[in-house]
Amino acid sequence: MPYISSKQILTYARDHKIAHGAFNVNALCQAKAIIEACEELRCAAIIQVAEPGLAYIGGRADFLNGTMEEKKLGAKRIAKYVKALAEKSPIPICLHLDHGRSFESCKAVIDAGFNSVMIDGSALPYEENVKLTAKVVKYAHKRGVQVEGELGVLAGVEDHVFAASSTYTNPMTAIDFFKRTGVDSLAISYGTKHGAVKGDNVKLRKEIVIATMENMLHENIDGAIVSHGSSLVPQYIVNEINALGGQVKGHGIPLEQLKEVIPAGVSKINMDTDIRLATTRNLLEYYEADKSRQEGSKVYKLLKEKPDSFEYRYYLKEYINELETNKGFNDELKAIVPLMEKAVKEIVLTASVEFGSVGDAPYIK
Ligand code: G3H
Ligand code: 13P
Ligand code: ZN
Repeated sequence: MPYISSKQILTYARDHKIAHGAFNVNALCQAKAIIEACEELRCAAIIQVAEPGLAYIGGRADFLNGTMEEKKLGAKRIAKYVKALAEKSPIPICLHLDHGRSFESCKAVIDAGFNSVMIDGSALPYEENVKLTAKVVKYAHKRGVQVEGELGVLAGVEDHVFAASSTYTNPMTAIDFFKRTGVDSLAISYGTKHGAVKGDNVKLRKEIVIATMENMLHENIDGAIVSHGSSLVPQYIVNEINALGGQVKGHGIPLEQLKEVIPAGVSKINMDTDIRLATTRNLLEYYEADKSRQEGSKVYKLLKEKPDSFEYRYYLKEYINELETNKGFNDELKAIVPLMEKAVKEIVLTASVEFGSVGDAPYIK
């Protein structure tokens, strides 16, 4: 089935008032798990990687300090891997750059074979955001690649996407942005937040979604709206982690609220934190189930070092080369990889059922 850009997937979602989950990965096996879960549900798959993730896949353990060369290697590795899986898969599959920071990074992943990119100029002054986004659109569209932009600032605690407070997107400005940049989709700020700590009183501003969609209809803009920072932070997973010795705190976006904004016009919903949480729970369970597994394990040592963290890229760093080349698995890794895959599937299956994308693969042309 086709390796396709997200345009068709998001247009279908928008027109049928459903949404597609878009899931962040940092290892090849996780991309495979997304595809397998979506194949089970006969829906399209959106796999995404942020820049730190590209560096990690490129072999950089301290992924926040990755060079462009490492990111390029990561992009080539995952694009080659996903394309090969897409050739044999019955569902449409899209590989997207999440939170691209510069024209150079967008160009690098497009050249490596990604078929969808985000350029996140949301921290820039408006006119600079327009200019940068339009430049990426020009390069991407010539190559059949779709572009997601961002307007407004989300509060959050994750890596480079940190911001002290939310500044909601102005729906009027969103229209100007679509017109002047030519973006295919737009990430808006309307009350979501990156990371596990979104507060226990989240109130999504559905009105912003409605107003943006209404304006788009009036102005004949063929675009889609994207929701970042949308993990549910399932409390059962948080509780399981903490029962296994973790000290994780967090509240996600209430599912009922997400389900209200989908028919209002949200077509893509980004989830990363939930995969990190489920992975951490699975690994803690594995080492707890048989204490002999703990002895001499570098993964276990790192996992226990930071009980309030659920950053699997940190505690799996000893195996970065094996994970990112899919070679040389020892017995510990042979046990860990299926647990990483299961974690991804738990989140992808839940989201796809809840967001309504089940069964849409044959209809996406
Ligand atoms: O929104 C950002 C994603 O959660 C990616 O996270 O920057 O830690 O790879 P990362
Ligand atoms: P979460 O931190 O809520 O999973 O958001 C992920 C995201 O927006 C990736 O771009
Ligand atoms: Zn995001």
